[in-house]
Amino acid sequence: MVLLGNILVLIDTVLLFSSKEFGMITPENYQKWFATEPVRNQFNFTGADYIVKWAHKNGQAVRGHNFVWHSQLPDWLNNGTWDKKTLNSIMVNHIVKMGSHFRGKLYAWDVVNEPYNDDGTWRSTIWHDIIGPEFISTALTTAHAVDPFAKLYINDYNVEGVNAKSDAHYNLAKSLLKKHVPYHGFGIQGHLVVAQLPKDIPQNIARFAGLGLEVAITELDIRMDLPNNAKNATLQANDYKTVVNACVDNRACVGITVWETSDDYSWIPGVFPTQGDALLFDTNKDPKPAYYAVADAL
Ligand code: XIL
Repeated sequence: MVLLGNILVLIDTVLLFSSKEFGMITPENYQKWFATEPVRNQFNFTGADYIVKWAHKNGQAVRGHNFVWHSQLPDWLNNGTWDKKTLNSIMVNHIVKMGSHFRGKLYAWDVVNEPYNDDGTWRSTIWHDIIGPEFISTALTTAHAVDPFAKLYINDYNVEGVNAKSDAHYNLAKSLLKKHVPYHGFGIQGHLVVAQLPKDIPQNIARFAGLGLEVAITELDIRMDLPNNAKNATLQANDYKTVVNACVDNRACVGITVWETSDDYSWIPGVFPTQGDALLFDTNKDPKPAYYAVADAL
């Protein structure tokens, strides 16, 4: 019921104007583990199915998000005591069931989300700590076997510029590709702060492209300290333009996804309470200066 309620809200807001503005949709929370496998081996695709169907009816592609992440896991998974073999089979089963359900319907899957800390060390998660770093190649190989049509991504935040975390991803990419693991795209989330963009986004995109990977900006929002004012709105517009240009200027960068459309639906104020107004449309669903800057850059 709750899920249905949320979807109806989504229809009222995001989906109504999304088909004329956006060519691709990510179902924000509806394909996460808590929503899709709330009870072990019992799957619920209601929310995600609705969005995928809606997108296809409107000629939009869909990015799948996500298979393996440490966050928004159901209690049974978080609270269980797992040995390596069992957890590995839980992960594989999740990917097989979800991947085959959506087989052929999605442009891409974020197969692994946020595996590293900002300093480039492995994040301590059940996946890494119990299965070991090979959970990544197992997840990618499994996903490719069930849906050979989907581009397989590893996705993370704070990897926009060249830094310790994006270095870790770069080295991981080199090692996966050397072993012929099916890995196709690096997802740069793009949760950024106004006037604090790294200067080397183009260089960072270029080095992943140089490995033969495609790149996408997958969750773009550029937050500011509230309240908003004309100066910040202009700086934000400029920052959006910078990110869009960085993607458009490299042929390997295949897409830019914003993480929600209007500011009242953004996750930012819930997580960064003094910040917000990070998106392209304001709370009245009116386009902001950032919207026009993106339109100009495209
Ligand atoms: C966020 C959603 O937008 C929120 O609604 C939810 O409460 C928490 O997750 N990185 C990701 C996304 O990969 O899945 C997260 O989405 C934002 C950070």
